[in-house]
Amino acid sequence: MNCMIKTASEIEKMRISGKLAAKVLEMIETYIQPNVSTEQLNQICHDFIKQNNAIPACLGYHGFPKSVCISVNDVVCHGIPNKHHILKIGDIVNIDVAVIKNNYYADASKMFFIGQVNTLAKRLCQVTQESLYAALKIIKSEIPLFRIGETIENYVENRGFSVVKEYCGHGIGSSFHEDPHILHYKNSNQMILKNGMIFTIEPMVNAGKAEVKCMNDGWTVKTKDHSLSAQYEHTILVTNYGCDILTWQKQEKILSRFIN
Ligand code: MF3
Ligand code: CO
Repeated sequence: MNCMIKTASEIEKMRISGKLAAKVLEMIETYIQPNVSTEQLNQICHDFIKQNNAIPACLGYHGFPKSVCISVNDVVCHGIPNKHHILKIGDIVNIDVAVIKNNYYADASKMFFIGQVNTLAKRLCQVTQESLYAALKIIKSEIPLFRIGETIENYVENRGFSVVKEYCGHGIGSSFHEDPHILHYKNSNQMILKNGMIFTIEPMVNAGKAEVKCMNDGWTVKTKDHSLSAQYEHTILVTNYGCDILTWQKQEKILSRFIN
């Protein structure tokens, strides 16, 4: 389907949006400390996005009440920032940032540690990030879509963790969620990746079982067994040689332009 392939001018705009989402994640790092509330972090991200002439895409999206999602410990995704939720030493925290700049979206998230965290938590976050990188490594035009899910699920399960099945990555551009759906587990989608496609990959990985449960607020998703959960997300551009990571951040030990 041609509509999934971006034009050169769309790609230029997506690069700008991607850089801004990455900058939010770089900027917020220094504020992530014990005793800070998730609402304070939300406000800092909100102000930074607005100062950069952009819009926080989560705010008001299907009624989501805040500008970023902040998901702590056993929260899998879509955690709602709250002034009563105070971060403490040992917490693992995902901040999920989506922005709209010049009418184009970008979406990225990463894990942060509050002080020292335990060995299991560190390992879970490392494996989750590496599963995303393992998928990025195999991406280039002409590979079938199912390779992404297969790569991520194998990487995670070989290390004793489980992949959440209920949420997936997505095409992204002048709308937040577009085709194709990017599953993070084994599937049989034979669609062939093409130069110029842009989508997110955003595996959610649990230390225990894969099952999740949505809370009564309608948003917060937790692991059913209360085990820890981690997520990393990038917005990427498929090329003939590999992929470009549009939301690449300075501290990442991987190249922004990733060629096979
Ligand atoms: N960034 C997430 C995604 O990939 C969260 C969207 S849901 C929201 O779709 F309402 F919180 F924005
Ligand atoms: Co997303």
